[in-house]
Amino acid sequence: MEVLIREHAEAGCILGAKIIARVVRDKPTAVLGLATGRTPLRLYQELIRLHRDEGLDFSRITTFNLDEYVGLPATHDQSYRYFMRENLFQHINIDQGRTHVPDGTAADIHEECRSYERKIEAAGGIDLQLLGLGRNGHIGFNEPTGSLRSRTWVKILSEQTLRDNSAVLGSLAAMPKHALTMGIGTILDARRILLLAFGPAKVRAVERMVEGPLAAICPGSALQLHPRATMILDENSAAGLQYADHYRWIDSQKLPWQRYE
Ligand code: GLP
Repeated sequence: MEVLIREHAEAGCILGAKIIARVVRDKPTAVLGLATGRTPLRLYQELIRLHRDEGLDFSRITTFNLDEYVGLPATHDQSYRYFMRENLFQHINIDQGRTHVPDGTAADIHEECRSYERKIEAAGGIDLQLLGLGRNGHIGFNEPTGSLRSRTWVKILSEQTLRDNSAVLGSLAAMPKHALTMGIGTILDARRILLLAFGPAKVRAVERMVEGPLAAICPGSALQLHPRATMILDENSAAGLQYADHYRWIDSQKLPWQRYE
């Protein structure tokens, strides 16, 4: 894992946007895996700025989002399809037909999962998958103890996740209890991983993901298996890392071609 610690989330998001922008410039037909949640919002704003001010071109980019709540239509203001349109897609020159979010209202939800996998494969696989991290270590909606080799599937949300996300959805009662999510196997197939985790609430999950044992109890720890995973943290989320100084040292010794900024 490449662990990059920045003082604040702001710098981390700008760095994350730089990494994605480089992928988009190097490969204008890239396939991006995208995430929702509060964490990537600032990164998306920076991508929008790069599009507006520097002409970053998304016209041939394809995207696949990680997950979606079961039962929420694309028009629902808490659906992830809605989130992506509001916070990114409508502000850049992406072809909406190339943007994919699992359909939480599909009549045959299992077929929707299988078809999502087929679509990712048909697009040539994901070049870079952006991830956030749940307080309990989940990635996508892969909650603790799920299979580390899972493919896109339906998951029941943990009580912790329901509590955390109900702040966004308004109330616990309003929260869908199920979601469609790329599996951990799906995520690990991406050619590159970029995970962002900020703030003190993520400190334990970060510690277990980066330095803990590879174990289904912390789904994020599966990323230890990935040959090209970059974790962007802030001082708060990195506070529990035993080897924080080592990661800083590595970061400071990079050759020019290994640097992003
Ligand atoms: C949600 C999403 C995840 C996200 C995580 C963290 O449940 N399914 O993809 O990474 O929770 O959310 P936040 O960034 O708001 O802390």
